[in-house]
Amino acid sequence: MERDEVPSGRDSVFSRDTARASDFEFNEEVAGVFDDMLVRSVPCYLEQQRLIQQIAGRFLVEGRTVYDLGCSTGTTLMNIAGALGQATRLVGYDNSTPMLERARNNVAKAGLADRVDLRYADLNDNLSALDLEGAGVVTLCWTLQFVRPLGRDRLVRKIYESLGEGGVLICCEKILTNDSDMNRFFVDFYYDFKRRNGYSEHEILRKREALENVLVPYRADENTELFKRNGFQIVQTFFQWYNFCGFLCVKSTKEL
Ligand SMILES: C[S@@+](CC[C@H](N)C(=O)[O-])C[C@H]1O[C@@H](n2cnc3c(N)ncnc32)[C@H](O)[C@@H]1O
Repeated sequence: MERDEVPSGRDSVFSRDTARASDFEFNEEVAGVFDDMLVRSVPCYLEQQRLIQQIAGRFLVEGRTVYDLGCSTGTTLMNIAGALGQATRLVGYDNSTPMLERARNNVAKAGLADRVDLRYADLNDNLSALDLEGAGVVTLCWTLQFVRPLGRDRLVRKIYESLGEGGVLICCEKILTNDSDMNRFFVDFYYDFKRRNGYSEHEILRKREALENVLVPYRADENTELFKRNGFQIVQTFFQWYNFCGFLCVKSTKEL
């Protein structure tokens, strides 16, 4: 199949009637419907993209590079590329080959292949394949939650150390609250959102089962602490919809 013929369809991955879903994977089937899955499963996804573009535009210093970790089909990279000057270089990393293949296709179709580089790296590894040289903006959206808790400090520390002064990490995560009732309300409201977007009870339940061992959310304060103890001087939430949260983390050593 030619690069520009990779199809992208409607998400019905969890509609089939099997006993129990196996652990969620970013495989070929998921990659094929991922863009639809994201807008129907992440509240305010398009508005978040706008905020991320604005923040990147505000903080990126000339000559520095934008890195997107867990870049999936390349949406965030392409949106940021559109908001920044032609000279800006962007690099996306992912450990799913089907996702990277789609990202390459999308980037080529958008005429951005000369500015956007797509690379394989596993964020659970020792990170030697993760080259973040000259980083000015790093985005890590809906991806840290899939990195094993034991590897999160190492990753955030590497991002902090790679950023120049004034550089930022933009991180979006599903979060827990400190209260079990509140967690239940938030999840109920989230499932209402999924129903409104056309997912059946069966699909909602099966995806929940599939993500159980794979997606490990932290509380907002645990994430803030993670970013701070690995160097970030300023950590601010810039977005929240119930249990979906965006963190803006700034490397700002000047005032210290
Ligand atoms: C929910 S998606 C990210 C969505 C994307 N950042 C966006 O906002 O449009 C998570 C992505 O992270 C990737 N991923 C998960 N675990 C990873 C790991 N250990 N190393 C690298 N990428 C990983 C998946 O393949 C997937 O493409």
